[in-house]
Amino acid sequence: MNPELVKQIDATHLPVHIAIIMDGNGRWAKLRGLERTEGHVAGVESVRKVTECAARLGVKYLTLYAFSTENWNRPREEVDALLHLIVMSLRKEVPHLKENNVSLRVIGDIDRMPAHTRECLEKSIEETSVCDGTVLNLALSYSSRWEITDACRRLAREAAEGRIDWASIDDEAVASHLSTAGIPDPDLLIRTGGDERVSNFLLWQIAYSELYFTDIYWPGFGADQMLRAIIDYQGRERRFGLTSEQVSEHGQQ
Ligand code: FPP
Repeated sequence: MNPELVKQIDATHLPVHIAIIMDGNGRWAKLRGLERTEGHVAGVESVRKVTECAARLGVKYLTLYAFSTENWNRPREEVDALLHLIVMSLRKEVPHLKENNVSLRVIGDIDRMPAHTRECLEKSIEETSVCDGTVLNLALSYSSRWEITDACRRLAREAAEGRIDWASIDDEAVASHLSTAGIPDPDLLIRTGGDERVSNFLLWQIAYSELYFTDIYWPGFGADQMLRAIIDYQGRERRFGLTSEQVSEHGQQ
């Protein structure tokens, strides 16, 4: 990590949760005359650098959009290559995650994954469960609309079975039925690759997140770019619907 950038970080005001839409692997590869899958392979290095950076700084949660529900519609070979890469990389990275005291968690419709992929994920989660530092939360076969629909379905069922009163369903009840239950909402959402959209990612949870977009393709994003995003975040005033004066009175949240 660049010490000049580290110096600019206010360690008392770190984002607790950073979420990242890792985009641009394909374009990064194309620019170099490589196959798209080689872009994903290079992207794994960025995952490693960014995870290590989060762990060293003490960012508690890092959520990465590694495979969306929509990604199932990509050419079969790319889907297979991507899933294989994710699982193989995780298996390889487990010792490194443990060294950095990082535990793994997964959100998404994991039942759609092949059995051996699920088993591999479960094993990595189990092996890192002793770590109590940063939580690396991988969004796999994930989309926000899937997640919100699933939460609605479960709430409706609980109400129909008389386990909850439908009139008592509030923000908290919905949040506790999302796959991110127990994790605070992201303070900062980063998207690489030049597009400025949220692509069905954590739609409920990013209601008050600061958004940071960069043109850099994901394989070009590393610790220094992450530090720059955090510095940018720390320069913003988060008002959560209040006035600037109210925020100054009560101190930044
Ligand atoms: C978007 O780039 C990226 C993805 C769909 C996959 C991201 C996955 C990884 C970087 C591997 C993750 C590995 C682990 C261990 C978590 P794109 O293919 O949409 O790029 P493009 O927009 O340039 O086509």
